[in-house]
Order: sequence, then C-alpha cells, then structure tokens
Amino acid sequence: MKTSGGSDAMKRRAGESAAAAVSDGDVVGLGTGSTAAHAIRRLGDRVDAGLDVRGVPTSFASRELAVEEAIPCLDLPDAVGPDGPGIDLAIDGADQVATGGGEEDTGSGARGDAPVSGGALIKGGGAAHAREKLVDAAADRFLVVADPSKESPRLDRSVPVEVLPAGRTAVAAAVREAGGEPTLRRAERKDGPVVTDNGNLVLDCAFGEIDAPASLAATLSSIPGVVEHGLFVGLADEIHVGTESGVRVDE
Ligand code: 5RP
Repeated sequence: MKTSGGSDAMKRRAGESAAAAVSDGDVVGLGTGSTAAHAIRRLGDRVDAGLDVRGVPTSFASRELAVEEAIPCLDLPDAVGPDGPGIDLAIDGADQVATGGGEEDTGSGARGDAPVSGGALIKGGGAAHAREKLVDAAADRFLVVADPSKESPRLDRSVPVEVLPAGRTAVAAAVREAGGEPTLRRAERKDGPVVTDNGNLVLDCAFGEIDAPASLAATLSSIPGVVEHGLFVGLADEIHVGTESGVRVDE
C-alpha cells in the first residue's frame, strides 16, 4: 500500500484512535492508504477479540487488507441499497487537511449539518478517491485519520482528477481553462500511466493555493469526462490527528 510523508507512529495513533470509535454491529467504510491501514489492522485485532463488524472497502488494496485481517466485507451497492444496513462510519486518510480560513465548506457533497471548521480535504494520493468519496459520503459519520504533516491553513497540493481515458485531453484543456496545470500520473515502477481500480486515468492538477475549495470542486465536477476529483468539501465529521504524544480529535 502506498505510503506518503509523515511519521508512521503518528499515523498509527490516528488510525487506532478512529478504530476505537467503532461499535459492535457497525458497518465501517475502510479507507485507503497507510494511515487508514493502521485503522483496518486495529479493527482486525478487535474482530479477533470478538467484535462484530462488516467493512465496506474503498479500494482493491483495502479489500485485500480486510480479507487478510478476517474482517467480513460488503460491497457498497449492497451496503447502501434499499435493503442494505447502510454505513455507520467511514475511516479514511487524506493527503491534505485544511485547518481553517477560506471559503465556508458548503460545496458539493456537504451533508447539510455543520461541517468541521476548515476540514476540506485533498484525497487521491492512492488514486482511490472516486470510491473513497462514494463510501465516505454515504457513511453516517466520516472520520479522517492524519498526521500533522497533512495539516495546512490552505489547501495547495495538486488535486487528483480521475478521468475517462478517452476524455484525458479534453479534461486537461478544461482544467487549464479553470486555472490549473494538469499532469498525467505515471506509475512509479512501470512504463505507463497509473490506471485506477475503475480502469481510468488520473490527472494531478496544480492550482496553487485553493481559496475556494467548494467552487473549485463544483467546477471540476462539471467537466465532461471527469469521473471524480479529490476535493472532499463538507464531508469530514471528525479529524483524528496523531501527534508525537497522542491524538487530537477535531470536530
Ligand atoms: C488514497 C488516499 C489516501 O487516503 C491518502 O493518499 C493518504 O494516504 P496515507 O495515509 O498513506 O498518507 O486518498 O486515494
């Protein structure tokens, strides 16, 4: 599983803190990345000890880890379908977490209840943001797990945009029109582009400092050929930040 920056001990504290919020009988969205993996492993320990949970994986990698940890899994359509149990909470990592300022988080995907102050996210470092957004948005509560290196007053990392392969050039032109600079994500060890679990490509789009994440999210969503982008605005309910000495939970 891909690991980005930050100390692994801090990531572990964050993941384990969120896993402690899971109750018996819960259906849990299982995020992608090295921090979410700590939560999945801790859930696996709790399953070993008798906890009854079912996981809804957000990626092939998180499903593999859940299977390894003997966590029973449900597919998203079964979890949220008319006869499904729903998703009680989702635990997922982030590449960047806005700590405040900028535009109020009322953009696409907001639940309608008060979002965390700041709390807009950039996700998709593992190219899993399309399924992550489906699962995280469907959950009653979305717990973000992060270490302090992810926190920033303003979002300024590139925004991953998953695109239909045939739409790659048209989407890149529309992103430039919107003030961004797109780069096709290439596989680290293979000669070719990253292909998502959904068979699509990823454009990493640099916009500099993002003053209005909700507006940019709406602009990106409106481009034909965009499957999903990595701006998560108004979705996070709690942010568990692992620190040198413990965990800080922001609501
Ligand atoms: C995958 C993601 C990850 O949650 C994000 O990249 C954070 O990963 P890590 O916990 O390894 O730093 O959005 O698409």
